Amino acid sequence: MSFSHEWIEKNPWLLIAFVTLVVSVGGAVEIVPLFFQKSTTEPVAGLTHYTPLRLAGRDIYVREGCYACHSQMVRPFRAETERYGHYSVAGEFVFDRPFQWGSKRTGPDLARVGGRYSDEWHRTHLRNPRDVVPESNMPGYPWLAKTKLDAPGIVPRLRALQRLGDGYTEAEIAAAPAELADKTEEDALIAYLQGLGTLIKSRN
Ligand code: HEC
Repeated sequence: MSFSHEWIEKNPWLLIAFVTLVVSVGGAVEIVPLFFQKSTTEPVAGLTHYTPLRLAGRDIYVREGCYACHSQMVRPFRAETERYGHYSVAGEFVFDRPFQWGSKRTGPDLARVGGRYSDEWHRTHLRNPRDVVPESNMPGYPWLAKTKLDAPGIVPRLRALQRLGDGYTEAEIAAAPAELADKTEEDALIAYLQGLGTLIKSRN
């Protein structure tokens, strides 16, 4: 029997093997170059690793599951950029482990929320969202204002990130517990939110 397409299509196992091969090669050709492209691996201008306070805030964001209702990725569509500002680019997330991109939006995208409101607005909103947005169904997080940060706990976090290549200096790590000492979890979370997406600004 001569080799024909029909022969492949009538052999389910052979078909599975070829489909797997084609999808793997096709996938690799699309994905692997991204590991080496500057636009996906280099931080955008001005981006540095998280300050210890913002890093602590980011950990609280993840712990409290804010990502369950909020994405952090502005898509490159008119409706998105009109509402949130410039679409997100890969270089903004170089220091995010793990990313908070997401697709679940019970609340608005937060990728460019930095600087949009005052710290006071965030304080009121986090304690009871309905005090500033009456129709909000976001839960309140009043305990964050009453809970002090775990200041010594930041040191192993910074060490781990340093090992992964984030440029924390020894002086920065040594000073970190003092920087966090009198701060609450709410302070850290707000510091984190206020820095989100501020390096690329073009809110319409
Ligand atoms: C159950 C879903 C839900 C969860 C969980 C949630 N949010 Fe929200 N969030 C919302 C909704 C809905 C809104 C829009 C109404 C409002 O502003 O309160 C919102 C609005 C916001 C805004 C204002 C955004 C803007 O552009 O106006 C911020 C900031 C925010 N949330 C932060 C957080 C943080 C931080 C957490 C975790 C501690 C969190 N949210 C958890 C639903 C949620």
